[in-house]
Amino acid sequence: MQIGFADTRPSGDYALVLPVSGKDRSALGSLGAAQQTVNAALDRQRFEGDGSSVSEQFVNDNGTVRRVLLVGLGTGAAPSESAEKLGGTAAARLLASGEKKAVIDLSGVGYDADTAARVALAAALRSWRHDRYRTRLKDNQKPTLEEIVIVGGEGAEQRYKARWVPVVEGVSLTRELVTEPANIIYPESFVERVRASLEGSGIEIEVLDRAQMEKLGMGALLGVAQGSVREARLLILRWNGGGTGGQPTAFVGKGVTFDTGGISIKQAAGMEAMKWDMGGAGAVSGALKALALRKAKANLVGICGLVENMPGGNAQRPGDVVTTLSGQTVEVINTDAEGRLVLADAVAYVQRNYKPSTIIDLATLTGAILVSLGHEWAGLFSNNEELASGLLKAADESGDKLWRMPLAEHFDRLLDSPIADMKNVGPREGGSITAASFIQRFIEKGVRWAHIDMAGKAWSDKPSSTYEKGATGYGVRLLDQYVADVLEK
Ligand code: BES
Ligand code: MN
Ligand code: ZN
Repeated sequence: MQIGFADTRPSGDYALVLPVSGKDRSALGSLGAAQQTVNAALDRQRFEGDGSSVSEQFVNDNGTVRRVLLVGLGTGAAPSESAEKLGGTAAARLLASGEKKAVIDLSGVGYDADTAARVALAAALRSWRHDRYRTRLKDNQKPTLEEIVIVGGEGAEQRYKARWVPVVEGVSLTRELVTEPANIIYPESFVERVRASLEGSGIEIEVLDRAQMEKLGMGALLGVAQGSVREARLLILRWNGGGTGGQPTAFVGKGVTFDTGGISIKQAAGMEAMKWDMGGAGAVSGALKALALRKAKANLVGICGLVENMPGGNAQRPGDVVTTLSGQTVEVINTDAEGRLVLADAVAYVQRNYKPSTIIDLATLTGAILVSLGHEWAGLFSNNEELASGLLKAADESGDKLWRMPLAEHFDRLLDSPIADMKNVGPREGGSITAASFIQRFIEKGVRWAHIDMAGKAWSDKPSSTYEKGATGYGVRLLDQYVADVLEK
């Protein structure tokens, strides 16, 4: 989608989008002769300007027929939120409408530069599609909208380009990785897709293959991968935007490119969803891309633990004991609790090699977090109050929602094993908490750590104002906002 900005409405052929704040219809004044008809139509439709409500009408504009979209802003929502709803709603409605161009006229709503830029942000995010494998789309199902022009947001263009275009790029990369099926995206191809996407960004890329990880002793991550013909990879992304010195902040992502459960195999129904079990790694890659493109003043390292969890003649068995990079041993009771095994070695690796002050891991880790928080919030676990509150604030601002969950000694004890230092699962109750406790056992003293269980967020079965149903890109905006708020201050 091409997004442009202008001071006044252009002439020519386009669909016009006008925001309506609740019952205040002053925006209609700019419709000239058509105002009366539009107003009457809104009354008949009982249009009250509620957030995201839409009235679509056609008017005679100096002899040509123009499509006009009146989009409600509601009342009471924060401007940044209603601005995103406006941009996203307009884009969604017009994307495959037959219109090629849309003009969103913000004159009169009084948005500041960032708020107006967020109209553009949401429109761009909502326009993302993945049609690569849809070869038989009917002509009238194909997207037609090519250009959106935002009118009357002073300073919005600069703000959009500097701050939000990079975010759109990052979110798009994440969605692409999450959407692609597991025969296309597996550890090696994940690395190559990210490498191609990050070319010229200034990010340094390093990749460990199986032999290198074996030598280091990453037995937990490799144990998960050993049932698959796809070789594991550890992808390391470095962005040094913060000058020399200072410990980096590390983002660590679970990248299980497909999770069958392994020998503890999952049931068939719905298993296809497990192609997005690499959503954490996708978010880390997309966030690094966004942050590099906007030249964030921060030193960051992104680590993606990439494996495929398959059953097979060489797969690990329930009861196997693996030795992790940290030296601690784990009795693998359930091979479907594989994400924590991958993360255990990934966080150990980043601590050993980069001495980060802070680690934030993102993972589609447990079905239990869906039982707790549904699809609205990801769960946040942390050993540090300041880090947790920084992330909760970034969640509020970015719309990538987080809800704090507890950690406690009680849950940690549930992981004790009679044969090894720990087992990889606790009881069913508190399943997300024991999973977090497991990862915490690999966090060294003094390191600030947060774990984000985003199993309910990587994929959505219903659309929102910033995404179509499917991959959401969750985590990119969260990490971007956290860096802006906390590391770039
Ligand atoms: N990738 C899954 C978690 C998941 C489940 C994400 C459903 C999204 C939807 C994870 O690897 C897993 O299988 N977890 C198990 C853990 C259990 C065996 C302790 C789970 O949640 O059932
Ligand atoms: Mn699993
Ligand atoms: Zn998994």
